[in-house]
Amino acid sequence: MSAATGKKAVLQLDGKEIELPIYSGTLGPDVIDVKDVLASGHFTFDPGFMATAACESKITFIDGDKGVLLHRGYPIDQLATQADYLETCYLLLNGELPNAEQKAEFDAKVRNHTMVHDQVSRFFNGFRRDAHPMAIMVGVVGALSAFYHNGLDIEDINHREITAIRLIAKIPTLAAWSYKYTVGQPFIYPRNDLGYAENFLHMMFATPADRDYKVNPILAKAMDRIFTLHADHEQNASTSTVRLAGSTGANPYACISSGISALWGPAHGGANEAVLKMLDEIGSVENVAEFMEKVKRKEVKLMGFGHRVYKNFDPRAKVMKQTCDEVLEALGINDPQLALAMELEKIALNDPYFVERKLYPNVDFYSGIILKAIGIPVEMFTVIFALARTVGWISHWLEMHASPYKIGRPRQLYTGETQRDIKR
Ligand code: SDX
Repeated sequence: MSAATGKKAVLQLDGKEIELPIYSGTLGPDVIDVKDVLASGHFTFDPGFMATAACESKITFIDGDKGVLLHRGYPIDQLATQADYLETCYLLLNGELPNAEQKAEFDAKVRNHTMVHDQVSRFFNGFRRDAHPMAIMVGVVGALSAFYHNGLDIEDINHREITAIRLIAKIPTLAAWSYKYTVGQPFIYPRNDLGYAENFLHMMFATPADRDYKVNPILAKAMDRIFTLHADHEQNASTSTVRLAGSTGANPYACISSGISALWGPAHGGANEAVLKMLDEIGSVENVAEFMEKVKRKEVKLMGFGHRVYKNFDPRAKVMKQTCDEVLEALGINDPQLALAMELEKIALNDPYFVERKLYPNVDFYSGIILKAIGIPVEMFTVIFALARTVGWISHWLEMHASPYKIGRPRQLYTGETQRDIKR
């Protein structure tokens, strides 16, 4: 529980004073508990939640000014280079990194839940083949709630924990199938003898005609690191959506589907796809200056730049850039879009327009170049983000259900019509 500091903020209103308690966490700003403002007949007003702490959490800490991202206290660059994605999943879910025995048990649990009910595969057929894979994911992940509802007691921690394992295990299968469906290839089933990222890439790119398809270990390692870099990120828009849906007691699979919906937007997880389309549109370094003028005229945004919290660098972007260099070198790829991205970054970091607005590359800026090198089509970029973020969403869902919670129900500043009667 947060520490009550004994300190209070005093709000002077209509000649009265309202004392508002102040709480401290272990890291980050203190918070002012504003619920007593209601007694004064006022609401607080914070569109976009710029200054609102919506909950207490122990999972992830971000310091936007210092470019710090900790998962259960561990810096993201250490997790991305010294742990793997399933270890990071275990950490987010349980609060500690697994020992060898715990890792083996967790890994085995996930491997044995990668299959989905055969009826789930029928849902894909309702989509057009040119459906966006994120549209398919919203549908089929939500459909899991039809298979795990009767008998699911979210008040039972064991039911909650197996839900987390099922989602972490099945999301790569559904993600790969959302790709296979759009390219008209048969679904490839998960295999229990493959690692998490390797299994996903195998389901993405193997075909029945190529029985000996082997995943390049360099790509599997890069994929795993990208999953880790996207695993969780505090109370971002999609995680807050999952918490709000979860606060009504909704089916957890439906809650995760709501998170996928929120993530899809280009201002959020959809930015990685938008970055590649932006680089395609710019075409070459010669066009960068003109494009930047369009950005300054606010005709377009520099996708992959800016962040609500990071007003310095996004620590994930740094690791992503390093990974980008490693993967392209290991694969002997000289991608002109990387040079273009680096030119954009160089200009942005030195241009007053961007410096004044504290716009730096975020997690989405370089990820697309690596995903392209791995062979992931651009329409699948946000699906990869959703796959990786599922553990973050379900960790926050579990944390919320682990103690008493209230349904989320914000109010508003009403500026519409006053009461009036129908006159016929
Ligand atoms: C993710 O919250 C999270 O943690 C998200 C995430 C996660 O892991 O969950 O980190 C993942 O969503 C990363 C962000 C991916 N989105 C993009 O790359 C899209 C481009 N970025 C912007 O849309 C924007 O920066 C946001 C949405 C990310 C943040 O928006 P804010 O905090 O609401 O900032 P703002 O829109 O108020 O911008 C402040 C100023 C404005 O200019 P002025 O009105 O002051 O003149 O900066 C400008 C904006 O116009 N600005 C940009 C810009 N982002 C902000 N101008 C050009 N290009 C941009 N990308």
